[in-house]
Amino acid sequence: MRRTIICGTGRYLPPRVVTNEDMAQWMDTSDEWIRQRTGIEQRHWVDEEGGVGASDLGVEAAKNAMNRAGWQPEDLDLIIYATMTPDIFLPGSGCLLQQKLGLKETPTLDIRQQCTGFLYGIELADAYIRSGVYNRILFVGAEVQSTGLEISTKGRDTAIIFGDGAAAVCLEGREGHKNDGFLTSIVHTDGRMIDKLMLEAPASRENPRISIKMLEEGRHFPIMDGRTIFKKAVVLLPKVTHKVLQRVGLQKEDVDLYIPHQANMRINQAFQQAMSLPEEKVFHNIQRYGNTTAATIPLALDEALEAGFVGPGSLVCFLGLGAGVTWGASLYRFPTVSE
Ligand code: UT7
Repeated sequence: MRRTIICGTGRYLPPRVVTNEDMAQWMDTSDEWIRQRTGIEQRHWVDEEGGVGASDLGVEAAKNAMNRAGWQPEDLDLIIYATMTPDIFLPGSGCLLQQKLGLKETPTLDIRQQCTGFLYGIELADAYIRSGVYNRILFVGAEVQSTGLEISTKGRDTAIIFGDGAAAVCLEGREGHKNDGFLTSIVHTDGRMIDKLMLEAPASRENPRISIKMLEEGRHFPIMDGRTIFKKAVVLLPKVTHKVLQRVGLQKEDVDLYIPHQANMRINQAFQQAMSLPEEKVFHNIQRYGNTTAATIPLALDEALEAGFVGPGSLVCFLGLGAGVTWGASLYRFPTVSE
């Protein structure tokens, strides 16, 4: 049976580190508030002068992942690129990334699933791989949030949580892995909650798509009802995790590491408590990166692998919830024998 196997991961963070103390200089907030309410201590942001898009970060993460996999760009059958912060409005960011990898024909597919970009992306990759359409797929999640945040007291609820960064995963179809690889996933969307986390402009429903008036009203900045999203997350994440485990007849104890999206440390602690899991079974790196949206879960996976928290034979559960709202969970077992 052909299974989807992860054969390389990589990450890239822009070098500039922005601390909570930096934030406190720009808005009415404090290191204490940010740490207590979110768990974040710092985040990486691109340099203020601009000129660096999400695909610039994504291409570095892609090269790191392909190095680990021993792949050349020419080996790729498909690139799936997840971002909610595209470099430009048109064409899709996958085209920009592909060009930066020096490719001329490899198909690219953009997905806009925000914090669940990785969950939707690997499900899609797995469907392509199992059906035999493509065999070697590069998933890239990359974000430059910092250039689109309202860095003032008015925007403090979003400005303090989002970070820039990228991560990539090389996925390959291999035979002879009956119990390994990507096992299953469940993803959902509830479009009734679009206005709970939204960035409106530029908008094709407006003519012109962006105007001085819209800029003055701040409609090019994200707006978030953080409390409502928080409440949804703490209910829906345990629920979908139980559902995905049940689907393949596994128990919560069978999972070696839960790798949740990193939107707020308190969401992940509430998940851990609702699932009655020991603390060490839930991975956190929000302290150093904040919420890097589509990059978050693969970035956490890359770090968990590097730290040896997961390795051959480990069963990992990925889960997350974000704008849309979209949410989901998936299960992956690392092969015991590498081919
Ligand atoms: O990944 C995308 C999905 N997004 C999420 O999952 C976000 C989920 N939500 C959250 O992480 C939290 O709701 C936030 C971190 C955004 C906010 O934390 P909270 O504990 O829910 O605070 P709150 O929105 O209920 O606001 C409490 C108070 C308010 O002041 P008043 O009205 O009580 O006077 C806010 O104005 O905290 C204030 N506040 C801040 N104070 C200092 C909000 N942001 C800040 C800030 N610094 N940065």
